Amino acid sequence: MGILLFTELGPDSVVLVTAAAGGIGTLLVQHAKNVGATVVGLAGGPEKVELVQRNGADIGIDYLRPDWPEQVRAELGDRRATVLFDGVGGEISRAAVDLLGKGGQHLIYGAADGAPLSLSEEELATRDITSEMVVGPRMLQRVDGDLRPLEDKAMAEAAAGRMRPAVQRFALADAAEAHRALETRGTVGKVVLQA
Ligand SMILES: NC(=O)c1ccc[n+]([C@@H]2O[C@H](COP(=O)([O-])OP(=O)(O)OC[C@H]3O[C@@H](n4cnc5c(N)ncnc54)[C@H](OP(=O)(O)O)[C@@H]3O)[C@@H](O)[C@H]2O)c1
Repeated sequence: MGILLFTELGPDSVVLVTAAAGGIGTLLVQHAKNVGATVVGLAGGPEKVELVQRNGADIGIDYLRPDWPEQVRAELGDRRATVLFDGVGGEISRAAVDLLGKGGQHLIYGAADGAPLSLSEEELATRDITSEMVVGPRMLQRVDGDLRPLEDKAMAEAAAGRMRPAVQRFALADAAEAHRALETRGTVGKVVLQA
C-alpha cells in the first residue's frame, strides 16, 4: 500500500478507484473509507460493483456502461474527484482523469488494460492536476528502500479488521484457467495459486 505515501486522504477527499474489485482496488476502497473520504469505486459489471459497495464505497459504478462518466458526475453533483488511484490505464483512465478537479492527483500503480495513460505537460498545467507513476523505484525512494514498516502497518490494519483483502484461489494445476480468468477480467480480488 505504498501508493498511500503519495497522497493525503481525509474527509474532504473524493477518491476514484479503477478496478475497485481487484486485488489492490479492494484495499484502496476500504482504506479511503476508513479515513472518511468519499469513495467512488469503478468496476466492470454488476457483481463487481456489488462487492465494491459491500467494501464501503459510497458510489459504485459499472464502467462497462458507456455512460459511466456521466453517472459519476451526476452522483458527485458539484464535487469533483481529488484523487484517482489507477491500476488500469487505457480509455478507462482517460475518462477517469477527466473527472478530476483542479489540484487533482492521478496516481498510477499499474496498467491492467495495457499502457499507462500519459498526459501532456500542457494538459497538466492547464487543468492544474498532477499525474505520477508511483511504482518501483519511486516507491522505494519514498520509503528509503525499507518496505517493512509499510507491511507492518498493513498487517496491523488487517488484524484489527479494518482491511479485509479479497482473494480468489485457484489450484496450481488450474493455472491456465486462472490466467484465462485474469485476461478476461473474470476475477475479483488478488489471484492466488495454491499448491
Ligand atoms: N505497483 C505495484 O506495486 C503493484 C503491485 C501489484 C500490482 N500492480 C499492478 O497493478 C495492476 C492491478 O493489480 P492487481 O493485482 O490489483 O490486479 P487487479 O486489480 O485484480 O487487476 C485486474 C483487474 O483489472 C481490470 N482490468 C481492466 N482492463 C483489463 C484488461 N484489459 N485485462 C485485464 N484486467 C483488466 C479488471 O477489473 P474490472 O473488470 O473491474 O475492470 C480486472 O479484474 C496490474 O497492472 C499490476 O501489474 C502494481
